[in-house]
Amino acid sequence: MEDTLKFTVLPGDGIGPEVMAVALEVLEKVTSDAGLKLDYSTHDVGGAAIDSQGSALPASTLKACEAADAILFGSVGGPKWENLPPAEQPERAALLPLRKHFTLFANVRPGLLYPELLDASPLKAERIPEGIDIVCIRELTGGIYFGQPKATRDLPDGDIEALDTMIYRKSEILRIAEVAAQAALTRGKRVTSVDKANVLTTSVLWRKVVTEFFAEKYPEITLNHMYVDNAAMQLARSPNQFDVLFTENMFGDILSDEMGIICGSLGMLCSASLGAHNNRLGHPFGLYEPAGGTAPDIAGQGIANPCAQILSAALMLRYSFGRDDLAKQIEAAVKATVQAGTRTGDIAFGTDSVSTRAMADAILGRL
Ligand code: IPM
Ligand code: MG
Repeated sequence: MEDTLKFTVLPGDGIGPEVMAVALEVLEKVTSDAGLKLDYSTHDVGGAAIDSQGSALPASTLKACEAADAILFGSVGGPKWENLPPAEQPERAALLPLRKHFTLFANVRPGLLYPELLDASPLKAERIPEGIDIVCIRELTGGIYFGQPKATRDLPDGDIEALDTMIYRKSEILRIAEVAAQAALTRGKRVTSVDKANVLTTSVLWRKVVTEFFAEKYPEITLNHMYVDNAAMQLARSPNQFDVLFTENMFGDILSDEMGIICGSLGMLCSASLGAHNNRLGHPFGLYEPAGGTAPDIAGQGIANPCAQILSAALMLRYSFGRDDLAKQIEAAVKATVQAGTRTGDIAFGTDSVSTRAMADAILGRL
């Protein structure tokens, strides 16, 4: 049983299927060398599922995910589905329900920029001579994304109002604080908790709970607090002052995109969304996806950067299958390939760029 890795593959739209295909080859290589077998099935999600089955997250896709120990996700969305009502669009109708259904409360986004790729960052090279190495831990199933009530209503005076509810429980804050602490322990033992405690009641609770939690449970970790507006500024000014950037759902959505751009190409950025429940192997169930989206402008051309999808597969091995060793092999192969100058167009900077296939072959060759 344990020598078989059972996961569901949801390639989605745009470049999703292209980069997924080569990520699976990488997984196949590294796991077969380690004597493991892959057991996966592929299902439609997002726009592809709207086209084939009329909904972005069909019941059959959800069922396949329930039967697996992890989900390897591509990307969803694209111009074709942009004019659907918001609640039916691929991003909202596939990703958010998946997060809620599996209580994927912990979003881990590494912000990594190799020094060789400094040109890819919009920041001045002298601010980040060694590149960037931070990680964002974002709460993913609470806050204003999911708080009830949500409503749009007509008022007696003829006006219209809409509302979202931002709500956090102490227990939700504690469980994500634990994830931030664990991340810090494997890194520089520093956590910056980001909130808006000068305005929001939820942030006042967040700050109090986080302060007490780290003081009691992890005194060896250095904790500091930052308001979200300042954090946005500090990320652009001096990103490596952060080790673990830790925050609630909507602030994390915004800051993780900023982190993405200062780290250069979105084609390099992976993520893990970890669940509250363990899989059959006793590891967290999780969904693993690249941060870059479907890139409709280059879809179908075989030139997309596969690294983010490959690195997402590495995170799946690390978190949901407990194989940190295999994850490190993949990460090292990707890094060495990029450093040796084999690069897709998004990270080539005027030098010759290679296809998705050639990039994947170079990575496979280093495994
Ligand atoms: C993300 C995305 C999603 C979010 C969208 C697509 C719903 O921006 O994963 O960061 O807002 O969480
Ligand atoms: Mg986002």
